[in-house]
Amino acid sequence: MYEISLHPVPDAVRKQALIDNDAYLRLYQQSVEQPELFWSEQATSFLTWFQPWEQLHRSDLAKGEAEWFKGGKLNVAYNCIDRHLEQRGEQVAIIWEGDNPSESAQITYRKLHSHVTRLANVLKSRGVKKGDRVCIYMPMIPEAAYAMLACARIGAVHSVVFGGFSPDALRDRILDADCRTVITADEGVRGGKYVPLKQNVDKALKDCPNVSSVLVVQRTEGKIDWQDGRDLWYHEALHGVSEDCPPEWMDAEDPLFILYTSGSTGKPKGVLHTTGGYLLGAAMTHKYVFDYKDGEIFWCTADVGWVTGHSYIVYGPLANAATTLMFEGVPNYPDASRFWQVIDKHQVNIFYTAPTAIRALMREGEAPVKKASRASLRLLGSVGEPINPEAWEWYYNVVGDCRCPIVDTWWQTETGSILITPLPGATALKPGSATRPFFGVQPVLLDEKGKEIEGAGSGVLAIKASWPSQIRSVYGDHKRMIDTYFSAYPGYYFTGDGARRDEDGYYWITGRVDDVINVSGHRIGTAEVESALVLHDAVAEAAVVGYPHDLKGQGIYAFVTPMKGLEPTDELKKELLALVSKEIGSFAKPELIQWAPGLPKTRSGKIMRRILRKIACNELENLGDTSTLADPSVVQNLIDKRLNQ
Ligand code: PRX
Repeated sequence: MYEISLHPVPDAVRKQALIDNDAYLRLYQQSVEQPELFWSEQATSFLTWFQPWEQLHRSDLAKGEAEWFKGGKLNVAYNCIDRHLEQRGEQVAIIWEGDNPSESAQITYRKLHSHVTRLANVLKSRGVKKGDRVCIYMPMIPEAAYAMLACARIGAVHSVVFGGFSPDALRDRILDADCRTVITADEGVRGGKYVPLKQNVDKALKDCPNVSSVLVVQRTEGKIDWQDGRDLWYHEALHGVSEDCPPEWMDAEDPLFILYTSGSTGKPKGVLHTTGGYLLGAAMTHKYVFDYKDGEIFWCTADVGWVTGHSYIVYGPLANAATTLMFEGVPNYPDASRFWQVIDKHQVNIFYTAPTAIRALMREGEAPVKKASRASLRLLGSVGEPINPEAWEWYYNVVGDCRCPIVDTWWQTETGSILITPLPGATALKPGSATRPFFGVQPVLLDEKGKEIEGAGSGVLAIKASWPSQIRSVYGDHKRMIDTYFSAYPGYYFTGDGARRDEDGYYWITGRVDDVINVSGHRIGTAEVESALVLHDAVAEAAVVGYPHDLKGQGIYAFVTPMKGLEPTDELKKELLALVSKEIGSFAKPELIQWAPGLPKTRSGKIMRRILRKIACNELENLGDTSTLADPSVVQNLIDKRLNQ
């Protein structure tokens, strides 16, 4: 049994930190007991408002309603760029590190302003107006951030789609939000390989007649098809365009972006975030959780296609006038020392990555880490999935040389910013625990009856009061938001995660309690993978569950029933994997496909996933209540043929 070590806050860290434990306790108490006072102070100190709000806050979680800073006017791009120009125009805003180690660039706040205003004017000239949706399907290049900020500047709502999604998945997202404009690149570059982004867009747009403009950044100069009138080269469109583009005055509750994420049922949901509350959440957590000080270099390794990239590559750091590093490549290219080389090259002070990357690099041993000095590092962060204590210790001892605290940050696309996390100057660390709530966040654990559990215990993690950066809607389907997050436990936001609280009040996230799988930090709905598998003519039925995977955290285990009389082959397996890649993206391919002559079902025909999960996880001693099974022999067959892991 692994013994959890306690890491108290080192004196040196506490002394120079923005928040020590006394300050944390005082501010936390104020944030929940006097929220009006707390939030108005924070919103005034972190953001610049064109006009003050009329009502600080109004919420009714039982109805899924939340409004923050209503009537207040501000602009996100103004807050992330313009207001910094006078003092910090020449400071680097974005350090870009290319996939190829010989390529990098530095973009100052003044240059950022020039790029964003010109692009905003180009979008306007193509008819994009406040409230219109713009799809961004980009590699990790600065133009991705320019595109997000240009939308924010004119009040357009961006929908960034991760570059790993397939043309079909891209098409569904473009149609769902009715995007008329797409911003993309000819090709992306990752780990020395080219990703055919424009080609994917062309395929997706075959079924999207409303898209009238496709702006294409020239990244590789690879050969691409072109549709005159619709397609424009980004560099040509921006050439000679004016930098005069006054920021749109947005209400704090006007939409800022849509970001699709997977849930337990149906197609992905377009999580909608608004302007004021979201930006405040991103900025505040960036400063306090990462203890960010002026002049420091902050590196979040996420992709801008996920919420972590939105909040901690773009919006949080830029709102705080930070220098943010954007990395195009992957951790193991050209070799497993890449992250650490980049840290030395750009003198990174704060490094924020996912447990799956840490586990993969841990496998390579210490040598690639030790090849770099990492002397600039001061703080480490983890996000996306539970970090196992072994990986935590390696991160702490080897990467951080036992001198850098680790902030294990728990949050979700829907929460907009970090909700449960240590603060480096305040919180003694326990490897594997996300520790305590951030300011204003009131987590609770609920039992099966929906009753709050007091003291130490385990249950479903829910939040009992609104926070500024919470989800406001599911785009085009508000009822779905209420059904998913606010109906199961009326009066609470339901996270979909399970958690344990220990005797010190620390939270330990145990993973999803719904049909969502977290593969290498990528959130995948089992229903999405199943829908892809059953598209194949040879498949009668499919059920997908997660199982523990050493590197990826969770892997995808698919039980597939072929059509009657059909002999399943390895060829069919290959076709099924290709189908999942086509429908979703290759990151969603099952690791294991087991042929299942039958699936365990209740007498009313419902698949009993609970049993399949146990089989996939090799927890065969206790399959739970099997009395409602229509045909118990089905289970034994699956157990006998279960795939070795
Ligand atoms: O299960 C939790 C896990 O990731 C889920 C949210 O995924 P997504 O919306 O894609 O956002 C990921 C980045 C914020 C959560 O429901 N998760 C995220 N962070 C942690 C975590 N699980 C344990 N510990 C974390 N620090």
